[in-house]
Amino acid sequence: MQQERRFLWGGAISAAQAEGHYVTEGRLPSNFDFLPLDDRRLKAVYKNQADSILQEEPERIYPGRFGNNFYEQYQQDIQLLHELGVNSFRFSISWSRIFPTGEESEPNSAGLDFYDRVLTELEKYDMEPVVTLSHFEIPIHLVEKYNGWENLEVVDLFVHYAKTVMTAFGHRVKLWIPFNEMNMVLHIPFIGGGVLFDTDKDNLSVQFQAGHHQLLANARVIEAGRKINSEMQFGAMLAAGKTYAYTCNPNDVFAALQQEKENLLFSDVQVFGEYPTFFQAYMKKKRLQLRISETDLEILRKNTVDFVSFSYYSSACTAAEESGKERVATNGYTTIRNPYLPKSKSVWQNDPLGLRITLNQLYDRYKKPLFIVENGIGTQDTFSDEQVHDDYRIVYIQEHVKNLLLAVDEDGIDLMGYLIWGIIDLPSVSEGRISKRYGVVYVDQDDENKGTQKRYKKDSFYFYQKVIASNGQYVFKKEGE
Ligand code: BG6
Repeated sequence: MQQERRFLWGGAISAAQAEGHYVTEGRLPSNFDFLPLDDRRLKAVYKNQADSILQEEPERIYPGRFGNNFYEQYQQDIQLLHELGVNSFRFSISWSRIFPTGEESEPNSAGLDFYDRVLTELEKYDMEPVVTLSHFEIPIHLVEKYNGWENLEVVDLFVHYAKTVMTAFGHRVKLWIPFNEMNMVLHIPFIGGGVLFDTDKDNLSVQFQAGHHQLLANARVIEAGRKINSEMQFGAMLAAGKTYAYTCNPNDVFAALQQEKENLLFSDVQVFGEYPTFFQAYMKKKRLQLRISETDLEILRKNTVDFVSFSYYSSACTAAEESGKERVATNGYTTIRNPYLPKSKSVWQNDPLGLRITLNQLYDRYKKPLFIVENGIGTQDTFSDEQVHDDYRIVYIQEHVKNLLLAVDEDGIDLMGYLIWGIIDLPSVSEGRISKRYGVVYVDQDDENKGTQKRYKKDSFYFYQKVIASNGQYVFKKEGE
């Protein structure tokens, strides 16, 4: 690849899914620590049912509270990643580890110390840290007191947290992602925004209001960060994946276009510094009641992002008339099954060319450096004799890397890097279970959080190692070469 910057090959995790130790050394729980394993998990949580979710249930398994024990095993994990050859690692900082309730004025020094140690370990191996400030986590106290991101007060509290962290680490971390997948607040509001719904309220407005507050916080964090260290770069982060029209019937094409506008709304604001023009009409049509001040708009205008990062697992598919069509799960919502994509080992449909299409779409639209900060296949693995023969993961990585290389070399996309999601197995967001595994490193832990938590290299570890060592070219090697 001909680029001046070093291309970042790596892996990603989030605090809530990896660290465990949810009340260790002063940390208090976040929304993620209360997620149940049953079908309430991805649904909007109504205030009159909130007790059932927010109350301790001794019998309930809370995967977020255990993670994969990164909190204790980070040194060994980073050492393994070094052996893999990665030069970049994305992790998130847990707000509740730094400000346990979210309202303290002084940070919990044990929390800052932990991330200081993680950074020291990354520096030892010359790995570029990519730090997410909010990855589906908000202190539970702020959910209970303010209804999470619905309330403007939370913006100040988040900016205080972000400033504290950037002051502590701004000279060691260049790449910052204030919010993970901001568009998810429209699909999984409790996870994405810490908001509980009222039965008699206009909840779509609540979701967009929470989204607006995150946009505002994002802009204010950028403003503050640039004062702390002008070298820092900030990224938008969206759950991406081209939405295809089910057929070339203009009605289907138009339906797909509309869905994309909604999906790209938040990144549009983060890149262009203003809401897209369609949003005025959209607000009217959906009768959204939003509190957006002129000062907010000014802050958004002045503080736009430097790069656009995104997760890509699959494309989506939509039609003007969706009823009667088979649906399939994708990241945070369901979509029409695309009949042109073969069934694979994962529930989510695999579409490697869709990654190239998405890269082109985002680059044409934003003309900013792009960064794939999550990609991977989440599925069951068979662990036997301390080995995992995950040929399906090898194929997945190979096909996606081929497409990103083609996007760079043939389509001229400015791509900063490629990070595999859940590089070390961790509990999934949508299913809650660790048995939906993404890693190239296996963690001996089951869905009831039992196991040794020892790490083992899967076959895909050795494959990805060769991919990285060849700066990607290994994916084009034919068998026997
Ligand atoms: C993204 C999230 O939505 O997808 C991750 O940023 C998540 O936190 C990943 O784990 C995969 O989704 P899931 O539901 O399989 O864990």
